Amino acid sequence: MTDRYAVFGNPVAHSRSPEIHAAFAQQTVQDLSYEKIEAPLDGFEKALYEFRSQGGKGCNITLPFKHDAYTACDELSKRAQRAGAVNTILFREGDRLFGDTVFGDNTDGIGLVRDLTHNLGISLAEKRILVLGASGAARGALQPLLDEEPSALFITNRTAVKAQELAQEFHDYPENKDTDLAGGGFADIPTEPFGVIINATSASVSGEVPDIPASVIGGQSCCYDMYYAQQATAFMVWAESNHASQIHDGLGMLVEQAAASFESWRGVRPDTGPVIKQFR
Ligand code: ATR
Repeated sequence: MTDRYAVFGNPVAHSRSPEIHAAFAQQTVQDLSYEKIEAPLDGFEKALYEFRSQGGKGCNITLPFKHDAYTACDELSKRAQRAGAVNTILFREGDRLFGDTVFGDNTDGIGLVRDLTHNLGISLAEKRILVLGASGAARGALQPLLDEEPSALFITNRTAVKAQELAQEFHDYPENKDTDLAGGGFADIPTEPFGVIINATSASVSGEVPDIPASVIGGQSCCYDMYYAQQATAFMVWAESNHASQIHDGLGMLVEQAAASFESWRGVRPDTGPVIKQFR
């Protein structure tokens, strides 16, 4: 029997996840189907349980349901707990003692880190990282970025208090003590250039660029936009005009987060390189 997987979102028509997972399945010779499910805005949990009762094995969750998915799970990975959001669900079959469980994970942050470190060859250890934005996308990336042990990480946001609170929360986890972690508004950004600048705002969706000083870019800076579109995003154009040494969009992250989900469902890791090439 073909195993069923899906991505839940609203809207979801634009999602490339079915094509990515179809490519992984073909490459690893796995018998599975992967569909798009547009759940009503107030009906995520009902749609999830319907899918499960019809034999669904697992799913991905995209906007705006990542927090609904977080609350719908019986068990959460540590990174899903830190992210406060779930993008990957695995329906685990129980035994006589332990019933079935809905296990939630978040692969967005490790997808970003794997793209940076493995695909793009950018080591994050001892680097100074600047994260733009303080909503779900930034939060999901933080712990995996901090696990790479950068020397400093500054979170900056248009609404300064959100960045301050997020930085404080992650600063309080003992394992992050070796990174100089702080947050603030655009005017509070330290003046020394950053090795890696990650745009986790949604500004690119509307063709805007966060109003940050160009001085954050130094001779060796990599600028990475988590957003991905057919053409360069406004942030990438801004990075180019300010002479960043490397500029990347979020396609690699998209494929890597999918690969991590695929691996947790199927126990085999797809080779992402050819798939990133295929979708470029
Ligand atoms: P959410 O409701 O999850 O905050 P959002 O409104 O799309 O989603 O915003 C996501 C992030 O992008 C936020 O950090 C937001 O900054 P604010 O918290 O100040 O709203 C940021 N963002 C969106 N558009 C932006 C823009 N044009 N310039 C700078 N930051 C922007």
